[in-house]
Amino acid sequence: MTTGTTRKVLLLPGDGIGPEVMAPVAELLLELAKRKVLPVEVREGLIGGAAYDKTGHPLPPETVSLALDSDAVLLAAVGGPRYDTLPYEHRPERALLGIREKLGAFANLRPAKLIPQLANASTLKPEVIAGLDLLVVRELTGGIYFGAPRGIVTENGVRVGINTERYSEPEIERIARVAFTVARNRRKKVTSVDKANVLESSVLWREVVTRVQKDFPEVALDHMYVDNAAMQLVRNPGQFDVIVTGNIFGDILSDEASQLTGSIGMLASASVGGRTGLFEPIHGSAPDIAGKDMANPSAMFLSFAMLLDHSLREPGLARSLERGVESVLGEGIRTKDIAEPGSQVVGCAEMGRRITRAFWTHHEKGADKT
Ligand code: IPM
Ligand code: MG
Repeated sequence: MTTGTTRKVLLLPGDGIGPEVMAPVAELLLELAKRKVLPVEVREGLIGGAAYDKTGHPLPPETVSLALDSDAVLLAAVGGPRYDTLPYEHRPERALLGIREKLGAFANLRPAKLIPQLANASTLKPEVIAGLDLLVVRELTGGIYFGAPRGIVTENGVRVGINTERYSEPEIERIARVAFTVARNRRKKVTSVDKANVLESSVLWREVVTRVQKDFPEVALDHMYVDNAAMQLVRNPGQFDVIVTGNIFGDILSDEASQLTGSIGMLASASVGGRTGLFEPIHGSAPDIAGKDMANPSAMFLSFAMLLDHSLREPGLARSLERGVESVLGEGIRTKDIAEPGSQVVGCAEMGRRITRAFWTHHEKGADKT
């Protein structure tokens, strides 16, 4: 039983399958509060297309204030075809970038770990992905996503689209520190990914990461160009422990890494660095299956586990939840996206109930404390 001050958690279900995958996690959170396992106040807010429909803005100011006043934010997914034709500023994706920036969540941790029960889900050969356990540390509030100048301008009658890749020394230094710090508790290896053969921002990136490593002598560092890294990830992913990289390279490589496990519906992420952490599944809003009770809520539960770990400092509860997910998979219970011959396919709500039940079993067995 946990004591201490009440922590505030903001839930942002968003669009598409978001509300469906959030529902069982919200229920678990409320139950944790009710049983006084976790002193937590649960709030809910609007984001993405859902927010645009109600308020005319994908990231309403009330959502930002609620987020800044919370200890952690759990976000499901944003976006959908209905919003694809909106002007850039009103697109649901802008809300994602906006909330990351407002929260100062500059470090995006995206683990890609093979769950043994799902080894057959990958398109790669089993021997290539055996034991796969890597973490992409993606810089999240800088680089070409935010650099100025940007825009679409007309020069001598010709339209030109402009974006700027830009990294300052402090921005590189702080993300490098996060990468080396997490690597210390892992296999103690960091691969820094850049394009230093072409881009000055990468030359500086490489220099600063190399310097920061001196403060972490127990962690090994190597550097890789991004094109090679993309290739090495499918050739021999086992060589990676922690990959640290800038915003756009991290966007691309983390999608690639997630697919190595074959099950994007299983992968969680944490965006940290500010006072309030932001936790979200890697998968999107999957409009094609929204509202059909087909989505896989596992990544949402595992994102909540990351929230318990990083923001609420409840590693015991986080482990029980991870074990809960694994034991349900171990029983052969699957959502459609990860179904295998012989497994029992259930819907999103039922998967959520099973995971919740398995969590409580582990929790009550005292697995939290081990
Ligand atoms: C991600 C997504 C976002 C990104 C999009 C939706 C803005 O791809 O979280 O990786 O590019 O950061
Ligand atoms: Mg992405």
